[in-house]
Amino acid sequence: MRIGLAFDLQLDPSDERQAEFDPPPLLDAIEAALASLGHRVLRLGNAEALLEAPAAARSVDLVFNLAEGMGARSREAWVPALLELWGIPFVGSGSRTQLLALDKVTTKRLAVSSGVATPAWRVLASPEEAPLAEALRFPVIVKPRYEGSGMGIDPHAVVHSLEDLRRRVEWVVSRFHQLALVEEFIPFGELTVFLIGNNPAANLPVIQRPLDAASRLAWHVARAAEGAPWLCPVDMTPALEAAAADAARRVFEALGCRDMARADFRVDEQGSLYFLEINPLPSFDPEGTIGLAAECMGTTYAALIGRIVDAAAERIERCKIP
Ligand SMILES: Nc1ncnc2c1ncn2[C@@H]1O[C@H](COP(=O)(O)OP(=O)(O)OP(=O)(O)O)[C@@H](O)[C@H]1O
Ligand SMILES: [Mg+2]
Repeated sequence: MRIGLAFDLQLDPSDERQAEFDPPPLLDAIEAALASLGHRVLRLGNAEALLEAPAAARSVDLVFNLAEGMGARSREAWVPALLELWGIPFVGSGSRTQLLALDKVTTKRLAVSSGVATPAWRVLASPEEAPLAEALRFPVIVKPRYEGSGMGIDPHAVVHSLEDLRRRVEWVVSRFHQLALVEEFIPFGELTVFLIGNNPAANLPVIQRPLDAASRLAWHVARAAEGAPWLCPVDMTPALEAAAADAARRVFEALGCRDMARADFRVDEQGSLYFLEINPLPSFDPEGTIGLAAECMGTTYAALIGRIVDAAAERIERCKIP
């Protein structure tokens, strides 16, 4: 097939607004994977580039969408919405799902209504509302409601008192111009589940994320210094793995995800799972979850990219309506 790649290019990794964008080596890796499967790849770029040159998007058989957008709560829905408008088939979730999944609070509500546990939470609009979180068990973690890639999360996000909560809510609201999600902090361990396919999606081996020993945050958001101690405390039994995969699939279905997504969970010392969020635009870093899962399965990154493309092609064949 001729496959178009839609993406936002990360040119400056130190610019927080580009945190979700894809750096050139990742685009090279995904292009090489698609080429090794016999596809021809055309780099289309982001939503603005599509608008400037719709003919390029119309020239491909399928678009592989990685574009994250910037600066709006609908940013991850921009490319899917354009492709839906133009009737161009694409890999991954549609605009409606992208909108829902960037909102961590709506996602948590859908998880709860699907029987999936999530840390108890409150949403605060200002530091004055901090007493609304008094019913939660401290420590709590404060996150922007509509972001990803660890934006706004570092060891100071975990707070132990109402006073620190006020300060952090003030910081999140003024820096990100959005509501603060305050969640009970589940200190023990962390799992992530990559799903591929539809009706139902299949899970790849569940991956345990290493934690920074000091903050107990996942290593990728703790911004811990090289050489700092880290932990993988979870005993990954088949029962726990099956429970995480089942919970991930329930949320995948509740949000109407398609083709692939990655769901993140915390685990407490008793082995109870708590859903954090689902990413219908997961990272395709070959050294991240998808690469680790490929290694566990004795397969390759390219083979898993191939499974995602096949799942999309099969879905599109079955149901023409986006
Ligand atoms: N309630 C919680 N309890 C414990 N740790 C948490 C909690 N919420 C978030 N974290 C930590 O913060 C990290 C990032 O949180 P989350 O996944 O909600 O945000 P994100 O920015 O969308 O993440 P990602 O980097 O996966 O895109 C988690 O991987 C986890 O280590
Ligand atoms: Mg996450």
